[in-house]
This record gives sequence, structure tokens and C-alpha cells, in this order.
Amino acid sequence: MKENYKVRSPWTTFLRGKVGYPLALVFCSLFFVAGFFASMLFSQDVPSEGAGNARVLHEHFGVLDWPEMPYGETGEGDSTPIPFQVLSWKPRALYFPNFASPEKCDAIVKLAKTRLRPSTLALRKGETEDSTKGIRTSSGTFLSASQDPSGALAWVEKKIAKVTMIPRAHGEAFNVLRYELGQRYASHYDAFNPAEYGPQRSQRVASFLLYLSDVEEGGETMFPFENGANMDIGYDYEKCIGLKVKPRKGDGLLFYSLMTNGTIDPTSLHGSCPVIKGEKWVATKWIRDKEDGVM
Ligand SMILES: *[C@@H]1O[C@H](CO)[C@@H](O)[C@H](O)[C@H]1NC(C)=O
Repeated sequence: MKENYKVRSPWTTFLRGKVGYPLALVFCSLFFVAGFFASMLFSQDVPSEGAGNARVLHEHFGVLDWPEMPYGETGEGDSTPIPFQVLSWKPRALYFPNFASPEKCDAIVKLAKTRLRPSTLALRKGETEDSTKGIRTSSGTFLSASQDPSGALAWVEKKIAKVTMIPRAHGEAFNVLRYELGQRYASHYDAFNPAEYGPQRSQRVASFLLYLSDVEEGGETMFPFENGANMDIGYDYEKCIGLKVKPRKGDGLLFYSLMTNGTIDPTSLHGSCPVIKGEKWVATKWIRDKEDGVM
């Protein structure tokens, strides 16, 4: 009799009823089928690393086919696909896998190697070379495309113009940089705030980084303020936090320092994390709002 005092859930009552077992079976099967389809949906939303992107690429470019388009006098007949991934809208940052071949990267490194000098900084009012020591510890050299007999820099420059749709003449010479063990570049803006640097003849709109080497560990390009993060914590400009982009030989990273109305995008703050293992080579192209990117 004691058993009668036990509270039975309606579910148990239902299952113990005469028609309960076949019905329960139907319910269970339904849940199983629903779960199966739900898992398929989720697995489509989250493509697995590497292989997933390769599959997406194939879907986009495997059946690339459109009618031959008439193009203008300044247009181009070729329609080579250039894959890219939006890494962030705040700041506007795009990633270009395999932007340049390893051979082109090697040619650029070889050319730059003989000309390296310690990198310098544009100084703000009141700053001196001594007071800014340690902020930028890489070595580098400025190289224009015409100084590269291999033609690699000219090829890269044309492709950068294509993906930014900003004419080549707006670019400064390439700044090819080498970061050795422990070397880094504390967070900074590429655009020059006139309040800090005085009036500017022209302004940097965007930056394109071509990674010329892999880095075993460290050396990421970081955006500490991505999507407004860390802006109100009294961020230490030497800290390596936020959105981090790991350098991969031949890959490109493009980000905009100015918003479309011309004001400096506060989220475009970025830096180079210290190299922990290996060596980092990168070619930087700063692109300005006026022609002739002379600094
Ligand atoms: C420019 O655009 C940004 C973002 O839309 C906005 O926050 C800012 O106030 C604008 N600046 C000016 C001067 O219009």
C-alpha cells in the first residue's frame, strides 16, 4: 500500500498505461530524428578548421563561371579569384590567404636583408628617440617596387591596389621588417592624429601587411580594441591582447585606419606581439588618401 503514496509523474503514468509503450517508442524516435537534423545544421554553421575553409573555397570558386563582361578602358579582362575572409568590421580587417607565392616572399626577404636598419618612429610632440625606446624594436628598410629587379614587389603592389581599389600611386614605399626573438611593436595607430602629430599633408587610410615568413611562436598582429573591447580598462599598450592574427608566409592582412567619413577609427589600434620562437618577416604597405605616398 505504501506504494500508492509515491507521487507518480504524469509522464510515468503515461508510460505505464496500456498504449504507453508504442507511443513512447514513437516519441523517442522523433527526438532522435530531430536531434540528428539539428546536429547537421550546427555542423554546417561551424566548418572545421582548415578543411572547412577549403570546402567553402571550392564551393565558391569550383564552378566559377560567368559570361564574358565588357570592361572599360581602365578595366581588366582577367578574372582571377582572390579569396578573403572578413576578420573584423571594427576595425575593418580582411585576411587574404595565399596572397603571394613563397617564391615572391623569398625574393623580397633576400632583397631587404642586405639593407636592414633599426626601425624608427614618427615622434609625437614632446617625444624623443630616447623616450620612445623599446616601442618598436624591429629592423627594416623602405623599398619601392622599382628597386626590386625580381618584380615581386611590383606584382604585390598591383594586387594590393586591386583588392583595396585604391590606386598604386597612393601607396608609400614598402616597409619590409624583420622581428627577431623578443622584438615587437607596441600598440599604435598608423594614421596620424593632427592633435598629436601636427597638421598632415595627407593621411594614411589603410595598411596592407604581407607576411613573408611563418613564425613558430608569437609575432601575431594584434587588435586590442577590436569591436570596442578593452578601451575602458586603461589598456597597457605593451600588452598582447584582443584579436590576434598569426603570420603565415604568403598571406595578407588589410585593415583600414580611417572610417568612411575620414575620421580615425579608434578600433584600428594594433601592434606586433613579441616573437617567442623563430623570426618574423613582413612587408607593410601604407596607403594614403592622396597620391604620391611620400611621407
Ligand atoms: C564619423 O563616423 C563615425 C562612425 O560612424 C562617427 O562616430 C563619427 O562621429 C563621425 N565623425 C564625423 C566628424 O562625422
